[in-house]
Amino acid sequence: QAEQTLAGKRFVITAGGTKERIDPVRYIGNDSSGKMGTALANVASALGAEVELITTANLPTLPEVHVTDVQSVADMQQAVMAHFQASDVVIMAAAVADYHVLAPSDHKLKKTSEQSGLTLQLEQNPDILKTLGETKTHQLVVGFAAETDDLLQHAQTKLAKKHADLLIANFVGGGLGFNQDTNAVWLMQPNTEPIQVPEASKLEIAETILNTIQQIRG
Ligand code: C5P
Repeated sequence: QAEQTLAGKRFVITAGGTKERIDPVRYIGNDSSGKMGTALANVASALGAEVELITTANLPTLPEVHVTDVQSVADMQQAVMAHFQASDVVIMAAAVADYHVLAPSDHKLKKTSEQSGLTLQLEQNPDILKTLGETKTHQLVVGFAAETDDLLQHAQTKLAKKHADLLIANFVGGGLGFNQDTNAVWLMQPNTEPIQVPEASKLEIAETILNTIQQIRG
């Protein structure tokens, strides 16, 4: 059994790609598998933390992990906010959609012969991580940045804009990151040089991230 270095700590962790409904059978999603967030939840739990996993993914978790299943950003935000005050650490590992469909249909949309195009009106979602960063009192707030280009530059901007205490940056696309069992990341903290973590299993990356969180908290 792992040493209980996180005993008594309350973690809220999100995982997976959000789904924004177009109609009862269709949605706007993304390629996130939820493996990284679920690995973080399992490792934190094995280290003794009390873990609330808010997820769109249906992946195996340790019996001690408390799981809340969600789909949309609105559902995810509600679940995160319900646990935020009582938490010590929040890790937003989920790939959260920037937009939702303004008026999802309550019946399956039909193709019509008169119209060759279809326009969906989208509306911006709230930024959960930014809200947490701006309103945190004692919580440590951790975000992810998945980028296809200019990784460190985009991640640095996000770290500051979202008032995160730690940001994990990784390349995605072209077979990297999403839905893989391994990851290679940079750990970024305010006013600190980024630390590179070479490719390793998502479980090992989760251990490194949780060690860093412990170091930040002393
Ligand atoms: O801005 P971007 O989506 O790249 O930022 C990534 C980080 O912000 C992730 O930690 C993600 O979970 C979080 N996020 C959020 N709410 C959004 C968009 C992203 O919490 N609406």
